Amino acid sequence: MTRLDLFIARMVSQRACIDDAVARTKDMTGPVYELGLGNGRTYHHMRETIAGRDIYVFERAVASHPDSRPEPGFLYEGDVFETLPQALVDLGPTASFIHADLGGHNREKNDAFARKISPYVEPHLAPGGIMVASDRMYFDALEELPLPAEAFEGRCFIYRKPA
Ligand SMILES: C[S@@+](CC[C@H](N)C(=O)[O-])C[C@H]1O[C@@H](n2cnc3c(N)ncnc32)[C@H](O)[C@@H]1O
Repeated sequence: MTRLDLFIARMVSQRACIDDAVARTKDMTGPVYELGLGNGRTYHHMRETIAGRDIYVFERAVASHPDSRPEPGFLYEGDVFETLPQALVDLGPTASFIHADLGGHNREKNDAFARKISPYVEPHLAPGGIMVASDRMYFDALEELPLPAEAFEGRCFIYRKPA
């Protein structure tokens, strides 16, 4: 695969996995978390496809497209190792869907980061809640689900907290 192929596979997989998670959690009412705003493309897609649920964004420093910015009350600004524990105090273990795209271009660094952040993410999900990540995560009690047909293996990962 060329770098262009890999980039396209990542984007197609993100959209397919987000759409799958939105469909699986459509009857849940708990909030949705976007971990890593970046340009805001996946946040914009989530905002357009999720109805009736609050979406909270976790981002170290907002630099997204102006169309893709959360309202101040829905932004946890700062390092996720600090803001995720604060959100657990504020919101409890209620998240219906968490999407994480926090990595960069270095696969080893992304894997080390995923190992570190997994225990900070896991307690947030409500029973039946779904987590979608761009990197393999390391959870104790979440089950890994098969990818939707359009997604590419290894480009996206889906997990569910048993109901
Ligand atoms: C790859 S970008 C996300 C791209 C986004 N999915 C999109 O569609 O535009 C990753 C983002 O995660 C943020 N990030 C990385 N590590 C973080 C951390 N420890 N705490 C908070 N934000 C972090 C970066 O600042 C960056 O904006």
